[in-house]
Amino acid sequence: MLNQTNIDAKDLKGKDFLTLRDFTKEEIFYFLDSAISLKKAQKEGNCPQLLKGKTLGMIFEKSSTRTRVSFEVGMSQLGGHALFLSPRDLQIGRGEPISDTAKVLSRYVDGIMIRTFAHQTIEEFAEYATVPVINALTDDYHPCQVLADLMTIYEQKGTFEGLKLTYIGDGNNMAHSLLIGAAKVGMDVAIACPKNYEPKDEIVAAAKEIAKETGATVTITNDPIEAVTDADVIYTDVWASMGFEEEQEEREKAFSTYQVNQELVSHAKETYIFLHCLPAHRGEEVSADVIDGPHSVVFDEAENRLHVQKAIMAATM
Ligand code: CP
Ligand code: NVA
Repeated sequence: MLNQTNIDAKDLKGKDFLTLRDFTKEEIFYFLDSAISLKKAQKEGNCPQLLKGKTLGMIFEKSSTRTRVSFEVGMSQLGGHALFLSPRDLQIGRGEPISDTAKVLSRYVDGIMIRTFAHQTIEEFAEYATVPVINALTDDYHPCQVLADLMTIYEQKGTFEGLKLTYIGDGNNMAHSLLIGAAKVGMDVAIACPKNYEPKDEIVAAAKEIAKETGATVTITNDPIEAVTDADVIYTDVWASMGFEEEQEEREKAFSTYQVNQELVSHAKETYIFLHCLPAHRGEEVSADVIDGPHSVVFDEAENRLHVQKAIMAATM
């Protein structure tokens, strides 16, 4: 266990969960510890009813399999209830202001989870909501996913110290959240992207600033072999994220030499593990023999979404 006994859970109550930038290393370790305990309790058939009588509102402006199901099941395992709210049915889809929607929903539910496009939308929602708002993915960040990724790495490696995480592909929401998450826990992070698909400068600068405190290194390169050399963890994600589908063809060309395949992973440590947030496109960003091979832990990673989501909801709600 990471044993963050110096964190007072009361300090996390009521807090929004928008990016890992808003949490200290100790708070992140607290979430991870809590997720590990909740996982154990669930396996023993003994999940604590920490959110009995509470309700989570879930707004999805983009598709989801893992996030929707893990939040809904997680809430029910904690004794609460989750409401799926589609913007097709909400008045927000007909132009009701975000601020009014946030204020109204806050009168009914105890927490609101949102998956949307612009990160600014969730920031605006959180500004007007009086209950905690959880980011279930924006164009810029996917913090719940990265918490599950960190939990999976910790389960597999038993530490973050001395590890190198390599991300190959698009400088998207996953790349941004991995930069921040790795820097926060003190893990070296290297990102290899094609030219013009690098992560945002502001987020790279923030990760470098955080890394100074934790002793991690942050490397951004266009060379996948340089990035993957000696990696302990290899991560990739789709080339065209949700909202960028019309760029699929031009992206396939730009990313053609960035596939995570046996040749590329041969430069990593022999003990490397492979992670992918899923959904995956076999034959595009990753070859089938890597994602379905012995180093891949993508289904443990997907399962851990359930446990970290429960930890986030239990702490903030
Ligand atoms: N990884 C992830 O967030 O998956 P979904 O899009 O299925 O929720
Ligand atoms: N980058 C991907 C992540 C999906 C979980 C997307 O935004 O579509």
